[in-house]
Amino acid sequence: MSGHERFGEAVAHPNLALVKYWGKRDRALNLPATGSISISMGAFRTRTAVEFGSDRGADEVVLNGETADGGTSTRISEFLDLVRTEAGLDGVAAKVTSENDFPTAAGLASSSSAFAALGVAACHAAGLEPTTTELSLLSRRGSGSAARSIFGGFVEMRLGNRSDGQDAVAEQLAGAEHWDIRIVIAVTDPRPKRVGSTEGMELTRKTSPYYAGWVDTSGEDLRRARDAVKSRDLPALGEVAEHSALKMHACTLAAQPGILYWRGGTVEAMHAVREMRSAGHGAWFTVDAGPHVKVLCMPDDVDAIGERLRSIPGVTDVLVSNVGAPASLIDAAKEV
Ligand code: DP6
Repeated sequence: MSGHERFGEAVAHPNLALVKYWGKRDRALNLPATGSISISMGAFRTRTAVEFGSDRGADEVVLNGETADGGTSTRISEFLDLVRTEAGLDGVAAKVTSENDFPTAAGLASSSSAFAALGVAACHAAGLEPTTTELSLLSRRGSGSAARSIFGGFVEMRLGNRSDGQDAVAEQLAGAEHWDIRIVIAVTDPRPKRVGSTEGMELTRKTSPYYAGWVDTSGEDLRRARDAVKSRDLPALGEVAEHSALKMHACTLAAQPGILYWRGGTVEAMHAVREMRSAGHGAWFTVDAGPHVKVLCMPDDVDAIGERLRSIPGVTDVLVSNVGAPASLIDAAKEV
């Protein structure tokens, strides 16, 4: 086998959860406590290359041009171990190079596209030929939301009930061509988030009195969102997305100590979305484990919504995305 055959490169889009994943039922296998539903964000991409080479001592991880810190590097090496074990490459170190074409700190769920692109690239480099279901199961081990970024369009992450996690996997509800909607993102604070998702959801699970209610009511949210996607009903999808986001944040606020992801601009942007809705624009917000506000709308409303969000003090940037495609391998031979 030549060195070149141990190389793989892939792209993946981050995804935006409309029904949120927040809480784990098994930390070791990274199994979610609830199912979730997301849309692929086609405007943003993570591109990752993996090369296995037995002459290297330890894994080398370069993210956006800089050597990864110890924690990130360990998380990536542990993920690569799953691929190495499967491929019989135990002890073979890798060089990983990854670039985001969007600001990593902008809270755009970069771990979702990161572990999806890494999974696809690493499997190819290791000579494996996994199905999309196997790729989704693998990516989940790196980050729960990454299981969804294997697929494009509208995606559901299944809760599953097996203790080995083999049914905790994502599947596509509908492709991007099913429904041309947009996501307008109000960036409210360019600094990286202070409490990461993994840490935030663990603290919430352990200490929030609302956590049981969050888990118990997720099935109904999933059913509503699934139906809304199927029937292309934006008001129905928007309502359940706002509800899921506010419910998740109510749960994190009630943790001990309470986790407050919002900034002033976050609250102002949420009010602005509701005011625009009263004025006749179809606009619904969602907020992840960070301060930015993501607004769901139809293409015709993007300009008016973007203009309004830009006028809010505390909103530093506005980005727009369409619905994206699945993660895919980059065929080096076909690139000019
Ligand atoms: C708020 O997938 O980043 O974005 O599995 O611990 O890596 P880990 O968590 P992660 O959590 C995502 C949380 C969220 C909601 C969502 O994407 O569903």
